[in-house]
Amino acid sequence: MGLLISIESSCDDSSIALTDIETLEVIEHLKISQEIEHSYYGGVVPELASRLHAVALPKLLEKLKPYFKDIKAVSVTTHPGLSVSLHEGVAMAKSIASFLNLPIVGVNHLKGHVYSLFIEKNEKLPLLVLLVSGGHTQLLEVNSYDSMKILATSLDDSVGESYDKVAKMMNLGYPGGPVIEKLAKEGDRSKFTFPIPLQNSSAIAFSLSGLKNAVRLKIESLGGADALTKEDMCDISASFELAVVKHLLQKSKKVFKTSSATYFAIVGGVSANSYIKNHFKTLTKEFNKEFLEVDLNYCSDNAVMIARWAIESLKDNKLDSIENINVAATKRSKSGDYI
Ligand code: KG4
Ligand code: ZN
Repeated sequence: MGLLISIESSCDDSSIALTDIETLEVIEHLKISQEIEHSYYGGVVPELASRLHAVALPKLLEKLKPYFKDIKAVSVTTHPGLSVSLHEGVAMAKSIASFLNLPIVGVNHLKGHVYSLFIEKNEKLPLLVLLVSGGHTQLLEVNSYDSMKILATSLDDSVGESYDKVAKMMNLGYPGGPVIEKLAKEGDRSKFTFPIPLQNSSAIAFSLSGLKNAVRLKIESLGGADALTKEDMCDISASFELAVVKHLLQKSKKVFKTSSATYFAIVGGVSANSYIKNHFKTLTKEFNKEFLEVDLNYCSDNAVMIARWAIESLKDNKLDSIENINVAATKRSKSGDYI
């Protein structure tokens, strides 16, 4: 058996996985999330995240000792993310590769999210992807594991971040996505009219900061977070979510019209949201594309998706050297492809 060890520590999840390089089978998937620790602050505190990774990653690695003799390659998230968090995973990956004399592959976290679609499965391409996470909102055209072109991106906040900020405004802790989705299900989506971002602009881009601000003003007009009733919070969440969905659909539709991709998918932490997902399932059908879904276990950050992308790179013999693999700045080529 030839196993690939993968490490993910780009934000607030410490995760290590073992994947069979030949069969794609996930042998182990270990994860320690830091949500509780960051919840008190209403968002991720980088220095705290880094210290928690430094404790969690060795703890997880210890559990994988029985497999060490079968490990044939190492992969690790190198970018984008919080550099102090990424450093913890990269340092561990370099030590393992150096000590066991193994090949190493550095992985772009966003490419990992795209490949979360293909865990224990073969790829389905060409693919149009809406990537919605805590750090990013992008529409991507994916033609191969190594060719992902950015078609649209957020001009300011990401979708995940806007859910987190709206939750913080109502003292609902972190992460905000799951709690806002839950409250929205009980709320009246037409109670408050929030502006649909860039509605009258021909730009194919996303913007969430104006909407976030409109929600803040509404909360203030109702007397502030402490004055809100449960019903208010449900209605604010529902009306906010409606504006988010309308915005994402309006801009994505423009890309759907010109895309010849066979498949469409939503990936990233926000793809766990069934309200958003269901609207996109309908849009996908309208354009005669096939909707691909990420298993709920792999929507949020995890090392399995990092391994899945790295296996394609290994097959292609595209490896990194221990000396050169470092936390990298996010780069984009002139053609708009990810690097
Ligand atoms: O992909 P991810 O785990 O981390 C990054 O790469 O950023 O995404 C985390 C984000 C958070 O902002 C979180 O609030 C959001 O995903 N999220 C959701 C839901 N579950 C997680 N947003 C909306 N609805 C959800 N059900
Ligand atoms: Zn992520």
